[in-house]
Amino acid sequence: MDILFYHPSFKADKWIDLLQQRLPGARVRQWLPGDDRPADYALVRNPPPEMLKGRRLRGVYALGAGVDDILEQLRQHPDMLGEGIPLFRLEDTGMSLQMQEYAVYHVLGWFRRFPEYQQQKREALWHPLRNHRREEFTIGLLGAGVLGASVAQSLQAWGFPLRCWSRSPKQIDGVTSFHGDAQLGEFLSGTRVLINLLPNTPQTVGIINRALLSQLQPGAFLLNLARGAHLVEADLLAALEAGEVSAAALDVFNHEPLPVEHAFWSHPDIAITPHNAAVTLREEAGDYIARSILLQEQGEMPSGRVDLSRGY
Ligand code: NAP
Ligand code: GLV
Repeated sequence: MDILFYHPSFKADKWIDLLQQRLPGARVRQWLPGDDRPADYALVRNPPPEMLKGRRLRGVYALGAGVDDILEQLRQHPDMLGEGIPLFRLEDTGMSLQMQEYAVYHVLGWFRRFPEYQQQKREALWHPLRNHRREEFTIGLLGAGVLGASVAQSLQAWGFPLRCWSRSPKQIDGVTSFHGDAQLGEFLSGTRVLINLLPNTPQTVGIINRALLSQLQPGAFLLNLARGAHLVEADLLAALEAGEVSAAALDVFNHEPLPVEHAFWSHPDIAITPHNAAVTLREEAGDYIARSILLQEQGEMPSGRVDLSRGY
Protein backbone atom coordinates (compact mmCIF):
# COMPACT_ATOMS: atom_id res chain seq x y z
CA MET A 1 0.00 0.00 0.00
CA ASP A 2 1.38 3.43 -0.98
CA ILE A 3 0.43 6.55 0.94
CA LEU A 4 1.16 10.15 -0.01
CA PHE A 5 1.55 12.91 2.55
CA TYR A 6 1.34 16.62 1.83
CA HIS A 7 0.98 19.50 4.26
CA PRO A 8 2.30 23.03 3.72
CA SER A 9 3.71 23.33 7.27
CA PHE A 10 3.62 20.02 9.17
CA LYS A 11 6.88 18.09 9.58
CA ALA A 12 6.44 15.35 6.99
CA ASP A 13 9.11 13.02 8.44
CA LYS A 14 7.35 12.81 11.83
CA TRP A 15 4.01 11.99 10.19
CA ILE A 16 5.62 9.45 7.87
CA ASP A 17 7.31 7.67 10.81
CA LEU A 18 4.05 7.56 12.74
CA LEU A 19 2.04 6.18 9.82
CA GLN A 20 4.71 3.57 9.05
CA GLN A 21 4.46 2.41 12.68
CA ARG A 22 0.68 2.28 12.63
CA LEU A 23 0.45 0.65 9.20
CA PRO A 24 3.34 -1.83 9.01
CA GLY A 25 4.03 -2.76 5.41
CA ALA A 26 2.68 0.50 4.02
CA ARG A 27 5.05 2.69 2.03
CA VAL A 28 4.49 6.29 3.05
CA ARG A 29 6.15 9.17 1.19
CA GLN A 30 6.01 12.93 1.14
CA TRP A 31 4.48 14.17 -2.11
CA LEU A 32 6.77 16.57 -3.95
CA PRO A 33 5.98 18.38 -7.22
CA GLY A 34 6.50 16.06 -10.19
CA ASP A 35 5.73 12.87 -8.23
CA ASP A 36 3.10 11.04 -10.30
CA ARG A 37 3.97 7.53 -9.15
CA PRO A 38 0.98 5.40 -8.11
CA ALA A 39 -0.53 5.70 -4.63
CA ASP A 40 -3.54 4.27 -2.79
CA TYR A 41 -4.24 6.94 -0.19
CA ALA A 42 -3.37 10.60 0.28
CA LEU A 43 -3.22 12.71 3.46
CA VAL A 44 -3.50 16.39 2.64
CA ARG A 45 -4.04 19.98 3.62
CA ASN A 46 -4.36 22.65 0.88
CA PRO A 47 -3.25 20.15 -1.76
CA PRO A 48 -1.92 21.41 -5.08
CA PRO A 49 -4.42 20.02 -7.65
CA GLU A 50 -1.67 18.15 -9.54
CA MET A 51 -1.05 16.04 -6.45
CA LEU A 52 -4.46 14.34 -6.67
CA LYS A 53 -5.39 14.79 -10.33
CA GLY A 54 -5.65 11.59 -12.35
CA ARG A 55 -4.85 9.33 -9.41
CA ARG A 56 -6.93 6.22 -8.74
CA LEU A 57 -6.93 6.61 -4.95
CA ARG A 58 -8.96 4.59 -2.47
CA GLY A 59 -9.28 7.59 -0.16
CA VAL A 60 -8.15 11.13 0.55
CA TYR A 61 -7.77 12.22 4.17
CA ALA A 62 -7.96 15.88 5.17
CA LEU A 63 -5.52 16.68 7.96
CA GLY A 64 -8.11 18.84 9.71
CA ALA A 65 -11.77 18.91 10.70
CA GLY A 66 -12.72 21.49 8.07
CA VAL A 67 -12.40 20.62 4.40
CA ASP A 68 -13.18 24.02 2.88
CA ASP A 69 -9.61 24.35 1.53
CA ILE A 70 -9.96 21.09 -0.40
CA LEU A 71 -13.49 21.80 -1.59
CA GLU A 72 -12.43 25.25 -2.81
CA GLN A 73 -9.66 23.63 -4.87
CA LEU A 74 -12.21 21.14 -6.15
CA ARG A 75 -14.55 23.95 -7.25
CA GLN A 76 -11.71 25.49 -9.23
CA HIS A 77 -10.37 22.15 -10.53
CA PRO A 78 -13.37 19.78 -10.78
CA ASP A 79 -11.15 17.00 -12.16
CA MET A 80 -8.84 17.12 -9.10
CA LEU A 81 -10.62 14.23 -7.36
CA GLY A 82 -11.60 11.21 -9.44
CA GLU A 83 -15.28 10.17 -9.49
CA GLY A 84 -16.29 8.24 -6.36
CA ILE A 85 -12.99 8.68 -4.47
CA PRO A 86 -14.05 9.28 -0.84
CA LEU A 87 -12.80 12.34 1.02
CA PHE A 88 -12.54 11.96 4.80
CA ARG A 89 -12.03 14.56 7.49
CA LEU A 90 -10.84 14.37 11.09
CA GLU A 91 -13.61 13.76 13.61
CA ASP A 92 -12.58 15.03 17.02
CA THR A 93 -9.08 13.45 17.28
CA GLY A 94 -8.47 15.59 20.37
CA MET A 95 -10.00 18.78 18.97
CA SER A 96 -13.20 18.59 21.04
CA LEU A 97 -11.28 18.97 24.29
CA GLN A 98 -9.33 21.94 22.91
CA MET A 99 -12.56 23.62 21.77
CA GLN A 100 -14.10 23.00 25.18
CA GLU A 101 -11.14 24.65 26.91
CA TYR A 102 -11.38 27.68 24.64
CA ALA A 103 -15.13 28.10 25.00
CA VAL A 104 -15.28 27.51 28.76
CA TYR A 105 -12.49 30.03 29.32
CA HIS A 106 -14.27 32.83 27.46
CA VAL A 107 -17.81 32.06 28.59
CA LEU A 108 -16.82 32.01 32.26
CA GLY A 109 -14.67 35.10 31.76
CA TRP A 110 -17.53 37.06 30.23
CA PHE A 111 -20.01 35.74 32.78
CA ARG A 112 -17.78 36.77 35.71
CA ARG A 113 -16.75 39.98 33.84
CA PHE A 114 -13.03 39.20 34.16
CA PRO A 115 -11.97 41.20 31.03
CA GLU A 116 -13.67 44.26 32.55
CA TYR A 117 -11.89 43.72 35.88
CA GLN A 118 -8.60 43.41 33.97
CA GLN A 119 -9.29 46.83 32.49
CA GLN A 120 -10.16 48.21 35.94
CA LYS A 121 -6.92 46.82 37.31
CA ARG A 122 -4.97 48.75 34.66
CA GLU A 123 -6.71 51.89 35.99
CA ALA A 124 -6.33 50.93 39.71
CA LEU A 125 -10.12 51.02 39.93
CA TRP A 126 -11.99 49.18 42.75
CA HIS A 127 -15.52 48.92 41.40
CA PRO A 128 -17.69 45.80 41.82
CA LEU A 129 -19.82 45.27 38.70
CA ARG A 130 -23.34 43.85 38.70
CA ASN A 131 -23.21 40.06 38.22
CA HIS A 132 -24.82 38.59 35.12
CA ARG A 133 -27.80 36.37 35.84
CA ARG A 134 -27.06 32.76 34.97
CA GLU A 135 -30.59 32.10 33.70
CA GLU A 136 -30.21 35.05 31.29
CA PHE A 137 -26.81 33.93 30.05
CA THR A 138 -28.10 31.58 27.35
CA ILE A 139 -25.40 30.03 25.20
CA GLY A 140 -26.23 29.23 21.59
CA LEU A 141 -24.12 26.96 19.44
CA LEU A 142 -24.20 27.61 15.70
CA GLY A 143 -23.44 24.07 14.52
CA ALA A 144 -24.03 21.00 16.65
CA GLY A 145 -21.76 18.47 15.00
CA VAL A 146 -18.75 16.75 16.52
CA LEU A 147 -17.27 19.93 18.00
CA GLY A 148 -20.42 22.00 18.61
CA ALA A 149 -22.16 19.20 20.49
CA SER A 150 -19.13 18.51 22.66
CA VAL A 151 -18.69 22.21 23.51
CA ALA A 152 -22.39 22.41 24.45
CA GLN A 153 -21.99 19.40 26.74
CA SER A 154 -18.90 20.85 28.40
CA LEU A 155 -20.80 24.01 29.35
CA GLN A 156 -23.56 22.13 31.14
CA ALA A 157 -21.54 21.90 34.36
CA TRP A 158 -22.11 25.62 35.01
CA GLY A 159 -25.87 25.53 34.62
CA PHE A 160 -26.21 27.97 31.73
CA PRO A 161 -29.26 27.54 29.48
CA LEU A 162 -27.99 25.89 26.29
CA ARG A 163 -29.33 25.77 22.76
CA CYS A 164 -27.99 24.74 19.40
CA TRP A 165 -28.80 25.33 15.75
CA SER A 166 -28.02 22.84 13.02
CA ARG A 167 -29.32 21.65 9.66
CA SER A 168 -31.10 18.65 11.17
CA PRO A 169 -32.74 18.36 14.62
CA LYS A 170 -30.56 17.11 17.50
CA GLN A 171 -31.16 15.31 20.75
CA ILE A 172 -28.45 16.42 23.15
CA ASP A 173 -29.25 16.15 26.86
CA GLY A 174 -29.88 19.58 28.36
CA VAL A 175 -29.58 21.41 25.02
CA THR A 176 -32.61 22.86 23.20
CA SER A 177 -32.34 22.08 19.51
CA PHE A 178 -33.29 24.43 16.68
CA HIS A 179 -32.79 23.54 13.05
CA GLY A 180 -33.02 24.90 9.57
CA ASP A 181 -33.41 28.43 8.28
CA ALA A 182 -36.99 28.65 9.60
CA GLN A 183 -35.84 28.30 13.24
CA LEU A 184 -32.72 30.46 13.07
CA GLY A 185 -34.51 33.64 14.22
CA GLU A 186 -36.04 31.92 17.26
CA PHE A 187 -32.65 30.42 18.13
CA LEU A 188 -30.91 33.80 17.90
CA SER A 189 -33.51 35.81 19.79
CA GLY A 190 -32.88 33.83 22.99
CA THR A 191 -29.09 33.66 22.67
CA ARG A 192 -26.75 35.83 24.76
CA VAL A 193 -23.46 34.08 23.92
CA LEU A 194 -23.12 32.87 20.34
CA ILE A 195 -20.48 30.23 19.64
CA ASN A 196 -19.83 29.44 15.99
CA LEU A 197 -18.82 25.91 15.04
CA LEU A 198 -20.33 25.65 11.57
CA PRO A 199 -18.44 24.38 8.54
CA ASN A 200 -17.58 26.90 5.83
CA THR A 201 -19.95 26.16 2.95
CA PRO A 202 -21.76 28.26 0.33
CA GLN A 203 -24.78 28.24 2.72
CA THR A 204 -22.87 29.47 5.78
CA VAL A 205 -20.42 31.99 4.34
CA GLY A 206 -21.09 35.47 5.78
CA ILE A 207 -23.79 34.10 8.08
CA ILE A 208 -22.60 36.20 11.06
CA ASN A 209 -23.56 39.59 9.73
CA ARG A 210 -25.27 42.68 11.14
CA ALA A 211 -28.75 41.26 10.58
CA LEU A 212 -27.86 38.12 12.54
CA LEU A 213 -26.04 39.94 15.34
CA SER A 214 -28.94 42.36 15.83
CA GLN A 215 -31.27 39.44 16.59
CA LEU A 216 -29.22 38.26 19.59
CA GLN A 217 -29.98 39.28 23.16
CA PRO A 218 -28.79 42.87 23.79
CA GLY A 219 -25.13 43.08 24.80
CA ALA A 220 -24.36 39.70 23.28
CA PHE A 221 -21.00 37.93 23.15
CA LEU A 222 -19.52 36.24 20.09
CA LEU A 223 -17.04 33.39 19.93
CA ASN A 224 -15.94 32.51 16.40
CA LEU A 225 -14.08 29.21 16.46
CA ALA A 226 -14.92 27.98 12.98
CA ARG A 227 -13.86 30.02 9.95
CA GLY A 228 -13.20 33.69 9.22
CA ALA A 229 -15.44 33.48 6.15
CA HIS A 230 -18.48 33.10 8.44
CA LEU A 231 -18.08 36.61 9.86
CA VAL A 232 -18.66 39.92 8.09
CA GLU A 233 -15.90 41.68 9.99
CA ALA A 234 -17.12 45.27 9.42
CA ASP A 235 -20.54 44.22 10.73
CA LEU A 236 -19.02 43.00 14.00
CA LEU A 237 -17.26 46.35 14.47
CA ALA A 238 -20.56 48.17 13.81
CA ALA A 239 -22.46 45.91 16.23
CA LEU A 240 -19.82 46.52 18.93
CA GLU A 241 -20.03 50.24 18.31
CA ALA A 242 -23.84 50.11 18.60
CA GLY A 243 -23.65 48.09 21.83
CA GLU A 244 -25.54 45.16 20.30
CA VAL A 245 -22.44 43.08 20.96
CA SER A 246 -20.41 43.56 24.17
CA ALA A 247 -17.31 41.56 23.28
CA ALA A 248 -15.97 38.96 20.90
CA ALA A 249 -13.25 36.35 20.93
CA LEU A 250 -12.04 35.41 17.47
CA ASP A 251 -9.73 32.60 16.44
CA VAL A 252 -10.29 32.82 12.68
CA PHE A 253 -10.30 35.69 10.20
CA ASN A 254 -11.12 36.65 6.62
CA HIS A 255 -7.39 37.04 5.97
CA GLU A 256 -4.87 35.00 7.94
CA PRO A 257 -2.50 36.02 9.38
CA LEU A 258 -4.67 38.96 10.45
CA PRO A 259 -3.07 42.03 8.78
CA VAL A 260 -1.21 44.30 11.24
CA GLU A 261 -3.34 47.30 10.27
CA HIS A 262 -6.64 45.49 10.97
CA ALA A 263 -9.00 47.31 13.36
CA PHE A 264 -9.52 44.13 15.41
CA TRP A 265 -5.97 44.29 16.85
CA SER A 266 -6.57 47.50 18.77
CA HIS A 267 -10.21 46.96 19.67
CA PRO A 268 -10.51 46.70 23.48
CA ASP A 269 -13.41 44.25 23.35
CA ILE A 270 -12.02 41.78 20.84
CA ALA A 271 -9.77 38.93 21.95
CA ILE A 272 -7.65 37.32 19.25
CA THR A 273 -5.86 34.00 18.84
CA PRO A 274 -3.98 32.89 15.68
CA HIS A 275 -6.27 30.12 14.36
CA ASN A 276 -5.24 27.56 16.92
CA ALA A 277 -8.43 27.02 18.93
CA ALA A 278 -8.08 23.32 18.13
CA VAL A 279 -5.01 22.09 16.33
CA THR A 280 -4.45 18.76 14.61
CA LEU A 281 -2.70 16.46 17.09
CA ARG A 282 -0.31 14.14 15.27
CA GLU A 283 -0.71 11.03 17.44
CA GLU A 284 -4.52 11.20 17.67
CA ALA A 285 -4.99 12.12 14.01
CA GLY A 286 -2.44 9.53 12.84
CA ASP A 287 -4.19 6.79 14.86
CA TYR A 288 -7.58 7.82 13.48
CA ILE A 289 -6.40 7.83 9.86
CA ALA A 290 -4.53 4.52 10.24
CA ARG A 291 -7.66 2.87 11.74
CA SER A 292 -9.76 4.31 8.96
CA ILE A 293 -7.42 3.01 6.24
CA LEU A 294 -7.41 -0.45 7.83
CA LEU A 295 -11.22 -0.47 7.83
CA GLN A 296 -11.24 0.44 4.15
CA GLU A 297 -8.75 -2.31 3.40
CA GLN A 298 -11.22 -4.73 5.04
CA GLY A 299 -13.95 -3.48 2.69
CA GLU A 300 -15.77 -1.31 5.22
CA MET A 301 -16.68 2.35 4.86
CA PRO A 302 -15.29 4.29 7.84
CA SER A 303 -17.02 7.31 9.35
CA GLY A 304 -15.94 10.87 8.60
CA ARG A 305 -16.71 10.78 4.87
CA VAL A 306 -17.42 14.25 3.55
CA ASP A 307 -20.65 14.70 1.63
CA LEU A 308 -19.35 16.68 -1.34
CA SER A 309 -22.80 17.97 -2.27
CA ARG A 310 -23.40 19.38 1.26
CA GLY A 311 -19.85 20.70 1.52
CA TYR A 312 -19.03 19.20 4.92
P1 NAP B 1 -19.39 18.75 11.82
O1 NAP B 1 -19.33 17.60 12.75
O2 NAP B 1 -19.53 18.49 10.37
O3 NAP B 1 -20.56 19.71 12.32
C1 NAP B 1 -21.06 20.74 11.53
C2 NAP B 1 -22.38 21.22 12.13
O4 NAP B 1 -22.84 22.34 11.38
C3 NAP B 1 -23.49 20.16 12.05
O5 NAP B 1 -24.26 20.19 13.22
C4 NAP B 1 -24.31 20.62 10.85
O6 NAP B 1 -25.68 20.26 10.91
C5 NAP B 1 -24.20 22.12 10.98
N1 NAP B 1 -24.46 22.79 9.70
C6 NAP B 1 -23.78 22.68 8.54
N2 NAP B 1 -24.34 23.43 7.58
C7 NAP B 1 -25.42 24.02 8.15
C8 NAP B 1 -26.41 24.91 7.67
N3 NAP B 1 -26.42 25.35 6.40
N4 NAP B 1 -27.38 25.30 8.53
C9 NAP B 1 -27.38 24.85 9.81
N5 NAP B 1 -26.46 24.01 10.32
C10 NAP B 1 -25.50 23.60 9.50
O7 NAP B 1 -18.07 19.63 11.98
P2 NAP B 1 -17.12 19.77 13.27
O8 NAP B 1 -16.15 18.65 13.32
O9 NAP B 1 -17.98 20.01 14.45
O10 NAP B 1 -16.29 21.08 12.87
C11 NAP B 1 -16.94 22.31 12.64
C12 NAP B 1 -15.98 23.31 12.02
O11 NAP B 1 -15.06 23.78 13.01
C13 NAP B 1 -15.08 22.80 10.92
O12 NAP B 1 -15.75 22.72 9.69
C14 NAP B 1 -13.95 23.80 10.91
O13 NAP B 1 -14.20 24.82 9.97
C15 NAP B 1 -13.97 24.38 12.31
N6 NAP B 1 -12.72 24.10 13.05
C16 NAP B 1 -11.96 25.14 13.46
C17 NAP B 1 -10.82 24.90 14.18
C18 NAP B 1 -9.98 26.01 14.72
O14 NAP B 1 -8.89 25.78 15.19
N7 NAP B 1 -10.48 27.23 14.73
C19 NAP B 1 -10.44 23.58 14.46
C20 NAP B 1 -11.24 22.55 14.02
C21 NAP B 1 -12.39 22.81 13.31
P3 NAP B 1 -26.13 18.71 10.85
O15 NAP B 1 -25.59 18.08 12.12
O16 NAP B 1 -27.60 18.76 10.84
O17 NAP B 1 -25.50 18.15 9.63
C1 GLV C 1 -8.74 23.66 11.68
O1 GLV C 1 -9.10 24.77 11.48
C2 GLV C 1 -9.42 22.48 11.22
O2 GLV C 1 -10.38 22.61 10.43
O3 GLV C 1 -9.04 21.37 11.63
